[in-house]
Amino acid sequence: MTNTIELTVNGSARLLPSPGNRTLMDVLRDELGLKATKYGCGKGQCGACTVLIDGQPARACMLRAKRAENCQITTLEGLADPQTGKLSAVQQGFLECEGAQCGYCLNGMVMTASAFLASNPSPSRDEIRQALRHNLCRCGTHLEIIASVERAAELMREAQA
Ligand code: FES
Repeated sequence: MTNTIELTVNGSARLLPSPGNRTLMDVLRDELGLKATKYGCGKGQCGACTVLIDGQPARACMLRAKRAENCQITTLEGLADPQTGKLSAVQQGFLECEGAQCGYCLNGMVMTASAFLASNPSPSRDEIRQALRHNLCRCGTHLEIIASVERAAELMREAQA
């Protein structure tokens, strides 16, 4: 048994002390200072802690950090262009359409929407609603969130035209 773990986060390999049974969320926030990953329910129900594991949304509060070894972990901090700081299309969409009120769910919404639009770049409103149905917003900002994802899809299409 080794006393270190290597995680690949936002494209960088990070060597860390063995996390034991700690969750990926705890390691991201406490060891790596990546605080965008939010603690909401801690039970896999709200989606505030969503990160991408090999491009797929995952609940970081439910995942042991050591299970994420040998995976590509992406957090909200890793979405913008690292050279220019330019926001991703999804981040820009949320910014333009004010897809947050208190902002606590924003991380999960953006991460889930990023994975969703990567596989469905021209979604209907219903498909967006379905894709985000397991991410909870306690402020009731759902209409703006859906508009944000629609705008993000538009930005992605414009970038490819
Ligand atoms: Fe992980 Fe709520 S904090 S799903």
